[in-house]
Amino acid sequence: MNYAANSSACLERILKDLDMEGLTKKDATIFTRRLRTHFSALFEKYTHVYGHQYDCYFHLQKLVEILRDGVQKRKPALKRIDVERTKDPLWYRDESQVGMACYVDLMGPTLKDLHDKIPYYQALGVTYLHLMPLYDAPKGDSDGGYAVSDYRKVNPSLGTIKDLESLATALQKAGIDLVLDFVFNHTSDEHAWAKAALAGDEQYQNYYYLFDDRSIPDQYEHTLREIFPQVRRGSFTFNEHMDKWVWTTFNSFQWDLNYSNPEVFNAITSEMLFLANIGCAGLRLDALAFIWKAMGTNCENQDNAHVLIQAFNACLQIAAPSVVFKSEAIVHPDEVVKYIGKDECQLSYNPLLMALLWNSLATRKTRLLTRSMQKSFSISSDCAWVNYVRCHDDIGWTFDDAVAQELGINGNDHRFFLNQFYTGRFDGSFASGVPFAENPENGDCRVCGSLASLCGLEGALNANDEKGIDDAIQRMLLLYGITFSIGGIPLLYSSDELAKLNDYDYLNDPIKLHDARWVNRIAVTNSDTEFALSAERSALTLQEDASLRVFRGLQHMIDIRKTHGVFGNAQTHIEESGNDHCFAYSRKNSDGETMLVVCNFSEHAQVVDRGLLSDSNWHDLLTDASPSISDHGLLLQPFQQLWLSPTP
Ligand code: GLC
Ligand code: GLC
Repeated sequence: MNYAANSSACLERILKDLDMEGLTKKDATIFTRRLRTHFSALFEKYTHVYGHQYDCYFHLQKLVEILRDGVQKRKPALKRIDVERTKDPLWYRDESQVGMACYVDLMGPTLKDLHDKIPYYQALGVTYLHLMPLYDAPKGDSDGGYAVSDYRKVNPSLGTIKDLESLATALQKAGIDLVLDFVFNHTSDEHAWAKAALAGDEQYQNYYYLFDDRSIPDQYEHTLREIFPQVRRGSFTFNEHMDKWVWTTFNSFQWDLNYSNPEVFNAITSEMLFLANIGCAGLRLDALAFIWKAMGTNCENQDNAHVLIQAFNACLQIAAPSVVFKSEAIVHPDEVVKYIGKDECQLSYNPLLMALLWNSLATRKTRLLTRSMQKSFSISSDCAWVNYVRCHDDIGWTFDDAVAQELGINGNDHRFFLNQFYTGRFDGSFASGVPFAENPENGDCRVCGSLASLCGLEGALNANDEKGIDDAIQRMLLLYGITFSIGGIPLLYSSDELAKLNDYDYLNDPIKLHDARWVNRIAVTNSDTEFALSAERSALTLQEDASLRVFRGLQHMIDIRKTHGVFGNAQTHIEESGNDHCFAYSRKNSDGETMLVVCNFSEHAQVVDRGLLSDSNWHDLLTDASPSISDHGLLLQPFQQLWLSPTP
């Protein structure tokens, strides 16, 4: 089929009937121009998924009306940003970029309170603030807000949409972009669509996957992965009221949306544009790997999931072109990279780097990290990684078993070791983590815990062990240092910057008790931020001293990152360090600036072969001194990282 020819004929027909009365003349012109540029992509994706349905054209026409309404509601200030970002499309590759993710209630506790936190974000150099889901959600358990009851309403305990808009404007003025979650794989069972389905409305029952009996769910379950086996076995939940089984990949109150229904695509596009029009620069695509189901597969990473995300992307190009997508695919590395593309997700979490940094801390070995990054780090030069160390979720060991195998590492056994190590069940481990989502059938589990506790601070403080405290601090700075320098946007997870320990309070809350991820969802209070920013100090406790050293250490690295172009839009090359304990990479940009980073994951000093240094003379940006080089090679202190810049 010749899609190009069909799409322009289709567009002309839609335009002929399209009511543009509500748009200004200028907006109508811009909208038409953008449609002429991007409609063919949208058409191709949409018809790929829905073309076999008799009413595909009808829904496509409705979709264009939704896009028009999105343009009509977009505020002038956001339209100006659309124009600016079109001129600077690779803004997210800039060295100035530093992200932070936080929960409104844990830092606010309301949206209004966050205005007062702007100086704190600025002190850390944050340019991108991801506010964890803040939408209306069921009272009690709402999966930390990831069960959305209304995308157009802020959870009343946090504020209102107006508060969110005014925060977005204030952040923007301070040079900070807002990033929001787009939770589009599922809604809560209290969303209006779910309520209509519960009331027996067939149109809305078709928004979800409902089954009269177990016969089809049983067939699907042969090949499905269980995501939260600790709360419910299987991927379906029986609803007594409807007398039907509902597809619920995550918790039972999170109903998966049925994207084989074009009406769902259209309805969610309308919600997406509402979020874009609040004034955010990016949308985090939550659980995007799960949006397409196909019998006989694991229903993750299906081709149509990609096609649908590309279709959403085309919708944004037409109605809110400055907004970018951030992929949250915590899956096999070969699948993670498939979501990354200018026409799909411009940004992506880097779960492989995250997991392997933790692996290297545990094993003090860097071979798996090096080999895996050599294979998977390079992505399209018009996209960027979002590099992180911790987040609100658990750590899953998503490395590639085939790469591990090449190094003689058995993937399953090694995951077992890592789980033991980070939950403190391994002799000699420094970590205080908590197991999560243990699967009674196959023994699988994942790990929760704060940066500081997993790096050993909790244990060392309890033991009053000063050397242990120093090591823990070095580990934290080492992991973050890599996210600042390897290429991409570093994303701080709030509370990490202050080295806060695990919060075990969730064990006293019956709603949170079953979900160990709460151990790493930690409040950053006013007194914490005042403490971090204050210049005057009285005697510090060991914990306060550690907080401050981590905070200042991060600030120092961020300052350096922001003042050298080579941390921004540049190419990364993962080097062979020649020393099993050391990880090395070099960077180069189009201005010819270069940098060499060498990191020691061991608590003992290490020497790296001089070969890595070529003939240049080097200067370490972190210590503002020459590195120590002897006949044997380059010397690294325990846990030291060097950010080496050639001296002329
Ligand atoms: C994402 C979120 C996680 C949530 C899940 C379901 O993976 O990060 O917190 O439980 O999606 O929405
Ligand atoms: C699984 C999913 C991921 C989700 C996580 C929540 O790892 O792949 O998307 O965030 O579970 O625990």
